Amino acid sequence: MKEEKMEIEEKIAQLRKLREEAKVGGGTKRIEAQHAKGKLTARERLNLLVDAGTFEEIDPFVTHRCTDFGMAERKFLGDSVVTGYGKINNRLIFASSQDFTVFGGSLSEVASKKICKALDLAADSGVPFVAVLDSGGARIQEGTDSLEGYGEIFTRNILYSGVIPQISVVVGPTAGGAVYSPALTDFFFMVKGLGQSYITGPEIIKAVTGEEVSLEELGGAMVNATKSGNCHFVYETEEECFQQVRRLLSFFPQSCQEKPPFIDTNDDPNRVDEELLHIIPANSAQPYEIKKIITKVVDNGEFMEVHERFARNFIVGFARLGGQSVGILANQPMYLAGVLDIDASDKAARFVRVCDCFNLPLVTFIDVPGYMPGTDQEFRGIIRHGAKLLFAYTEATVPKVSVILRKAYGGAYIAMSSKGLRGDINYAWPTAEIAVMGPEGAVNIIYRDEIKKSANPEETRQRLVREYRDKFANPYVAATRGYIDDVIDPRETRPKLIKVLRALQNKDVCNPPKKHGNIPL
Ligand code: HXC
Repeated sequence: MKEEKMEIEEKIAQLRKLREEAKVGGGTKRIEAQHAKGKLTARERLNLLVDAGTFEEIDPFVTHRCTDFGMAERKFLGDSVVTGYGKINNRLIFASSQDFTVFGGSLSEVASKKICKALDLAADSGVPFVAVLDSGGARIQEGTDSLEGYGEIFTRNILYSGVIPQISVVVGPTAGGAVYSPALTDFFFMVKGLGQSYITGPEIIKAVTGEEVSLEELGGAMVNATKSGNCHFVYETEEECFQQVRRLLSFFPQSCQEKPPFIDTNDDPNRVDEELLHIIPANSAQPYEIKKIITKVVDNGEFMEVHERFARNFIVGFARLGGQSVGILANQPMYLAGVLDIDASDKAARFVRVCDCFNLPLVTFIDVPGYMPGTDQEFRGIIRHGAKLLFAYTEATVPKVSVILRKAYGGAYIAMSSKGLRGDINYAWPTAEIAVMGPEGAVNIIYRDEIKKSANPEETRQRLVREYRDKFANPYVAATRGYIDDVIDPRETRPKLIKVLRALQNKDVCNPPKKHGNIPL
């Protein structure tokens, strides 16, 4: 009996020793080197991500199986990724965090297997997955085993897309094909100065095209956030970044099977706001900040903007209305007068789809003069890209509510959650102008001869513009036909939206049976 006891104690001591070994990954020197670069370790990052003390690691004893290039003697417990589960705001998530201290976080066959296991468990349990990326890419010594490992991860990112929320946090190099995992997930976070994402690096670019570019200019966080639009969120520090990942998930249900969580925000659902009368300038050619309207309407003025630095003529983000999570979309008159262009269409369509996947109602604020004219947009495919937005709004089955604030002209009026595209409730402020095109353009076309022949063409043109404006530049023509469900007092926008979202909360519609739609990509 005494001997048996000794044996189990020895085993426990061995387990403790192995755990301690696993915790230091590639060793204390490499941890120091990681800190010296201003980067946190894989485990420190997971601790920032989850509620204190909730992370449970799985697969800490896995090691690689490569015997080439002297690798048989170079093994580290857990290999190059930490995986497991924990809680965010008391709700379960699964996560992986690449460990740069082990072969630069490079993806081995077993590292891929660990990530895939965690992804499978997340999908099977219906909970979100967060991947933290800091890696030199495919494990060079393992060749195709490593490349296939990427394929396995991509497959899961794709099959679980729309099933569970998937978030990528890039806090180190993510190069080559490896960057397609963040691109496939719902949200892509980066930290300035740490995250780098590109397909081919500066050296290859120089060899092939002769172009010279630095790593930061090519694939730094700001480039990915502003130019390519690959990345949705950029932060200065890792601490802030993980805090915002936690905030983002608070708007989401655990999976597509659930409704988003209700949070009592303590903001009066019947709150009216006098200032809403004074944000839109009297002159309809003048810009204003649409976010002033959004923050006055939503609970406690809290709006989490997504894709803030990309396609700034269109705003998307998350907020709560009466405690209910919603996706907000809006034209931004401060940039390009709020026109719809290629990037805005891509940004908005993707946002509509992520909300629809996870049962978040869509609330759309409209002030759109039309589509961006010009050969640049036409040649780059505004038709194809613009079509994505029509497709996304129409296909979405979540409650869809809109408010036309000012301009809603032409095809852009239709694209913005209109009744024709299955908008559920379409409100307008009395300041709304709804027509095929703006008064100036319309008059020049339909009264061209009359203006030319008149004794005083300019006076005639101005009179006709006034008449056209009186007839069409208001919400009542559309309201008489039921395209607008009601014209509302701007001050009452918040209570009206909250009431109608509650009325629509059990909306249940299905699209016609099909394998899948064919959104124009
Ligand atoms: C194996 C790697 C590695 C890799 C880095 N290491 N990348 N080991 N496979 N891909 C190891 C280094 O040997 C070193 O080991 C440790 O990680 C840290 O690397 P350093 O170079 O010292 O770090 P740093 O100076 O910070 O530079 C980081 C780096 C650089 C920029 C990532 O290591 C680098 O350029 N690595 C190669 C990147 C690459 O070309 N990968 C393949 C991409 S193709 P020690 O023992 O000294 O700690 C690809 C295809 C994916 O990924 C396809 C998917 C479809």
